[in-house]
Amino acid sequence: MSNPLVIVAHPDLSQSRINAKWIAALRQEPSIAVDDLYGRYPDEVIDVQAEQQRLASHERIVLQFPFHWYNCPPLLKKWLDVVLEHGWAYGHGGDALKGKQLGIAVSTWSKPEDYRKDGRYGRTMDELTSPFEVTALRVGMRYLPGFFLNGVGDIDDQQLAANALAYRAHVQQGERASR
Ligand SMILES: Cc1cc2nc3c(=O)[nH]c(=O)nc-3n(C[C@H](O)[C@H](O)[C@H](O)COP(=O)(O)O)c2cc1C
Repeated sequence: MSNPLVIVAHPDLSQSRINAKWIAALRQEPSIAVDDLYGRYPDEVIDVQAEQQRLASHERIVLQFPFHWYNCPPLLKKWLDVVLEHGWAYGHGGDALKGKQLGIAVSTWSKPEDYRKDGRYGRTMDELTSPFEVTALRVGMRYLPGFFLNGVGDIDDQQLAANALAYRAHVQQGERASR
Protein backbone atom coordinates (compact mmCIF):
# COMPACT_ATOMS: atom_id res chain seq x y z
CA MET A 1 0.00 0.00 0.00
CA SER A 2 1.27 3.41 -0.96
CA ASN A 3 -0.35 5.09 2.02
CA PRO A 4 -0.12 8.68 0.74
CA LEU A 5 0.34 11.71 2.96
CA VAL A 6 -0.49 15.12 1.52
CA ILE A 7 1.01 18.07 3.36
CA VAL A 8 -0.87 21.25 2.49
CA ALA A 9 0.81 24.62 2.95
CA HIS A 10 -1.76 27.37 2.34
CA PRO A 11 -1.51 30.44 4.58
CA ASP A 12 -5.27 31.09 4.54
CA LEU A 13 -7.45 28.16 3.56
CA SER A 14 -10.57 30.15 4.49
CA GLN A 15 -9.91 32.26 1.38
CA SER A 16 -8.88 29.35 -0.83
CA ARG A 17 -10.85 28.09 -3.80
CA ILE A 18 -8.43 25.66 -5.44
CA ASN A 19 -6.48 24.14 -2.56
CA ALA A 20 -9.64 23.88 -0.46
CA LYS A 21 -11.37 21.98 -3.27
CA TRP A 22 -8.35 19.70 -3.67
CA ILE A 23 -8.42 18.97 0.08
CA ALA A 24 -12.15 18.21 0.00
CA ALA A 25 -11.60 15.66 -2.78
CA LEU A 26 -8.67 14.05 -0.97
CA ARG A 27 -10.62 13.79 2.28
CA GLN A 28 -13.27 11.66 0.57
CA GLU A 29 -10.64 8.94 0.23
CA PRO A 30 -9.87 7.44 3.66
CA SER A 31 -6.53 5.94 2.57
CA ILE A 32 -5.12 9.44 1.95
CA ALA A 33 -3.88 11.37 5.00
CA VAL A 34 -4.14 15.15 4.66
CA ASP A 35 -2.20 17.52 6.88
CA ASP A 36 -2.87 21.25 7.01
CA LEU A 37 0.52 22.70 7.94
CA TYR A 38 -0.58 26.28 8.71
CA GLY A 39 -3.57 24.93 10.65
CA ARG A 40 -1.39 22.56 12.68
CA TYR A 41 1.23 25.20 13.47
CA PRO A 42 -0.49 28.60 13.78
CA ASP A 43 2.58 29.89 15.66
CA GLU A 44 4.82 28.39 12.95
CA VAL A 45 6.80 26.40 15.53
CA ILE A 46 7.19 22.97 13.96
CA ASP A 47 7.34 19.79 16.05
CA VAL A 48 10.24 18.15 14.22
CA GLN A 49 9.96 14.74 15.90
CA ALA A 50 6.24 14.50 15.23
CA GLU A 51 6.77 15.44 11.58
CA GLN A 52 9.56 12.90 11.17
CA GLN A 53 7.41 10.19 12.74
CA ARG A 54 4.54 11.04 10.42
CA LEU A 55 6.80 10.88 7.37
CA ALA A 56 8.23 7.56 8.48
CA SER A 57 4.81 5.93 8.34
CA HIS A 58 4.02 6.98 4.75
CA GLU A 59 5.52 5.78 1.50
CA ARG A 60 4.28 8.62 -0.70
CA ILE A 61 4.44 12.26 0.35
CA VAL A 62 2.86 15.04 -1.68
CA LEU A 63 3.50 18.71 -0.89
CA GLN A 64 0.52 20.83 -1.96
CA PHE A 65 0.58 24.62 -2.12
CA PRO A 66 -0.40 27.75 -4.03
CA PHE A 67 2.51 29.30 -5.93
CA HIS A 68 3.70 32.40 -4.05
CA TRP A 69 6.34 34.40 -5.86
CA TYR A 70 7.29 31.35 -7.92
CA ASN A 71 7.94 29.35 -4.79
CA CYS A 72 6.21 27.61 -1.89
CA PRO A 73 4.76 29.57 1.03
CA PRO A 74 7.34 30.16 3.78
CA LEU A 75 6.08 27.64 6.36
CA LEU A 76 6.70 24.81 3.90
CA LYS A 77 10.24 26.03 3.29
CA LYS A 78 10.76 26.17 7.05
CA TRP A 79 9.30 22.68 7.36
CA LEU A 80 11.85 21.39 4.82
CA ASP A 81 14.66 23.18 6.63
CA VAL A 82 13.90 21.77 10.06
CA VAL A 83 12.37 18.36 9.34
CA LEU A 84 14.89 17.05 6.79
CA GLU A 85 17.59 16.97 9.42
CA HIS A 86 21.19 16.03 8.88
CA GLY A 87 21.69 12.50 10.19
CA TRP A 88 17.99 11.73 9.65
CA ALA A 89 17.21 12.53 6.03
CA TYR A 90 20.76 12.80 4.72
CA GLY A 91 24.40 12.74 5.87
CA HIS A 92 25.93 10.55 8.60
CA GLY A 93 23.91 7.54 7.52
CA GLY A 94 20.62 9.44 7.58
CA ASP A 95 18.35 7.70 5.11
CA ALA A 96 14.89 7.81 6.72
CA LEU A 97 13.21 8.88 3.48
CA LYS A 98 15.17 6.69 1.10
CA GLY A 99 13.01 4.84 -1.42
CA LYS A 100 9.85 6.82 -0.61
CA GLN A 101 8.07 8.91 -3.25
CA LEU A 102 7.87 12.70 -3.23
CA GLY A 103 5.47 14.77 -5.31
CA ILE A 104 4.27 18.35 -5.47
CA ALA A 105 0.87 19.82 -6.37
CA VAL A 106 0.85 23.53 -7.19
CA SER A 107 -1.86 26.00 -8.18
CA THR A 108 -1.03 29.25 -9.97
CA TRP A 109 -2.93 32.33 -11.06
CA SER A 110 -0.73 32.87 -14.10
CA LYS A 111 -1.80 30.93 -17.15
CA PRO A 112 -0.35 27.74 -18.63
CA GLU A 113 1.22 29.68 -21.52
CA ASP A 114 3.06 31.96 -19.07
CA TYR A 115 4.96 28.94 -17.80
CA ARG A 116 6.39 27.89 -21.15
CA LYS A 117 9.92 28.40 -22.43
CA ASP A 118 8.54 30.86 -24.99
CA GLY A 119 6.05 32.35 -22.53
CA ARG A 120 6.00 35.40 -20.27
CA TYR A 121 8.29 33.90 -17.65
CA GLY A 122 10.54 31.91 -20.00
CA ARG A 123 10.55 29.04 -17.54
CA THR A 124 8.42 25.95 -17.12
CA MET A 125 6.79 24.83 -13.88
CA ASP A 126 9.22 21.90 -13.78
CA GLU A 127 12.15 24.33 -13.96
CA LEU A 128 10.74 26.70 -11.35
CA THR A 129 9.98 23.85 -8.95
CA SER A 130 13.23 21.96 -9.58
CA PRO A 131 14.53 22.53 -6.00
CA PHE A 132 11.90 20.02 -4.85
CA GLU A 133 13.16 17.50 -7.39
CA VAL A 134 16.77 17.98 -6.31
CA THR A 135 15.74 17.74 -2.65
CA ALA A 136 14.10 14.39 -3.41
CA LEU A 137 17.26 13.26 -5.18
CA ARG A 138 19.44 14.35 -2.26
CA VAL A 139 17.46 12.35 0.30
CA GLY A 140 17.02 9.30 -1.93
CA MET A 141 13.33 9.79 -2.72
CA ARG A 142 11.74 9.04 -6.07
CA TYR A 143 10.28 12.21 -7.55
CA LEU A 144 6.81 12.07 -9.06
CA PRO A 145 5.63 14.16 -12.01
CA GLY A 146 4.41 17.53 -10.72
CA PHE A 147 0.66 18.09 -10.60
CA PHE A 148 0.10 21.69 -11.73
CA LEU A 149 -3.06 23.72 -12.16
CA ASN A 150 -2.24 27.00 -13.94
CA GLY A 151 -4.57 29.86 -14.75
CA VAL A 152 -6.94 29.18 -11.88
CA GLY A 153 -8.88 32.39 -12.61
CA ASP A 154 -10.09 30.86 -15.88
CA ILE A 155 -11.30 27.59 -14.40
CA ASP A 156 -15.02 27.18 -13.74
CA ASP A 157 -16.51 25.08 -10.95
CA GLN A 158 -17.16 22.09 -13.20
CA GLN A 159 -13.58 22.07 -14.46
CA LEU A 160 -12.30 22.43 -10.92
CA ALA A 161 -14.40 19.49 -9.73
CA ALA A 162 -12.97 17.31 -12.52
CA ASN A 163 -9.46 18.53 -11.79
CA ALA A 164 -9.85 17.70 -8.08
CA LEU A 165 -10.80 14.12 -8.96
CA ALA A 166 -7.81 13.86 -11.32
CA TYR A 167 -5.60 15.17 -8.52
CA ARG A 168 -6.93 12.56 -6.09
CA ALA A 169 -6.22 9.81 -8.65
CA HIS A 170 -2.73 11.20 -9.12
CA VAL A 171 -2.09 11.10 -5.37
CA GLN A 172 -3.44 7.55 -5.15
CA GLN A 173 -1.48 6.24 -8.14
CA GLY A 174 1.86 7.97 -7.61
CA GLU A 175 4.56 6.55 -9.83
CA ARG A 176 2.14 4.42 -11.81
CA ALA A 177 0.48 7.62 -13.06
CA SER A 178 3.63 8.69 -14.87
CA ARG A 179 3.99 5.53 -16.92
C1 LIG B 1 1.55 36.41 -1.93
C2 LIG B 1 1.07 35.78 -3.21
C3 LIG B 1 1.99 35.49 -4.20
C4 LIG B 1 1.58 34.90 -5.39
N1 LIG B 1 2.52 34.60 -6.33
C5 LIG B 1 2.14 33.99 -7.48
C6 LIG B 1 3.10 33.62 -8.45
O1 LIG B 1 4.30 33.80 -8.27
N2 LIG B 1 2.67 33.05 -9.61
C7 LIG B 1 1.33 32.79 -9.84
O2 LIG B 1 1.02 32.28 -10.91
N3 LIG B 1 0.40 33.09 -8.90
C8 LIG B 1 0.77 33.68 -7.75
N4 LIG B 1 -0.17 33.99 -6.78
C9 LIG B 1 -1.56 33.54 -6.99
C10 LIG B 1 -1.84 32.22 -6.25
O3 LIG B 1 -0.92 31.21 -6.63
C11 LIG B 1 -3.25 31.74 -6.54
O4 LIG B 1 -4.13 32.73 -6.12
C12 LIG B 1 -3.52 30.42 -5.81
O5 LIG B 1 -2.77 29.38 -6.40
C13 LIG B 1 -4.98 30.06 -5.88
O6 LIG B 1 -5.19 28.97 -5.01
P1 LIG B 1 -6.24 29.07 -3.79
O7 LIG B 1 -7.60 29.33 -4.40
O8 LIG B 1 -6.15 27.73 -3.12
O9 LIG B 1 -5.78 30.18 -2.90
C14 LIG B 1 0.21 34.60 -5.60
C15 LIG B 1 -0.71 34.89 -4.59
C16 LIG B 1 -0.29 35.47 -3.41
C17 LIG B 1 -1.31 35.78 -2.33
